[in-house]
Amino acid sequence: MGTALGYSALWLAHGAPNAQVDTIESDPEHVRIARQHCIDYQMSNRVHIHHGDALTVLDGLDPNAYDLGFFDGLAPTPQLVSGLYQRLRTGGVLVCANLTLGPHNADDLLADPDAWLAHSFGETAIAVKR
Ligand SMILES: C[S@@+](CC[C@H](N)C(=O)[O-])C[C@H]1O[C@@H](n2cnc3c(N)ncnc32)[C@H](O)[C@@H]1O
Repeated sequence: MGTALGYSALWLAHGAPNAQVDTIESDPEHVRIARQHCIDYQMSNRVHIHHGDALTVLDGLDPNAYDLGFFDGLAPTPQLVSGLYQRLRTGGVLVCANLTLGPHNADDLLADPDAWLAHSFGETAIAVKR
C-alpha cells in the first residue's frame, strides 16, 4: 500500500520472479508515473497498480491470499494495517513502515516540506499472521 513511483513494488516483483504484486495508490500523478515505470521495466504483467483509496481498494482484494503485505503509505492507521493483515494467508508477513509519522501529525508535517524532508519516518514493524 502506497505505490508512489512504483519503486518498492518493482523491487518486490524483481526479487520474487514468480510473484504477482498488487499495489495501491490514491494520487493520480503517482499512478501515472508508476505505470510508466512498470512499462519501462517490463513489469506491467506482474505489478498491478490499483488507483483509489487503500481502504476501498483493499475491500476488493481477496482475503487470506497474500504472502506479503507492505504498508508504505504516509501514516499507518489501525484500519489500514488491519485491512492489509486480513489479506494475508496464515504464515504471511506484514511489514509496516513509517510508524513514527503517526496519524495525528502527518498533515502538519506534509504541509511543511522542510519538516517533511528532515523528519525521521523511523520505525518499521514486522508481523507474521497466525
Ligand atoms: C512514502 S510514499 C510511498 C513510496 C513508494 N513505496 C515507492 O516505492 O515509491 C506514500 C504513498 O502513499 C500514498 N497514499 C497515502 N495514503 C493513501 C491511501 N489512503 N490510499 C492510497 N494511497 C495512499 C501517497 O499518495 C504516496 O504516494
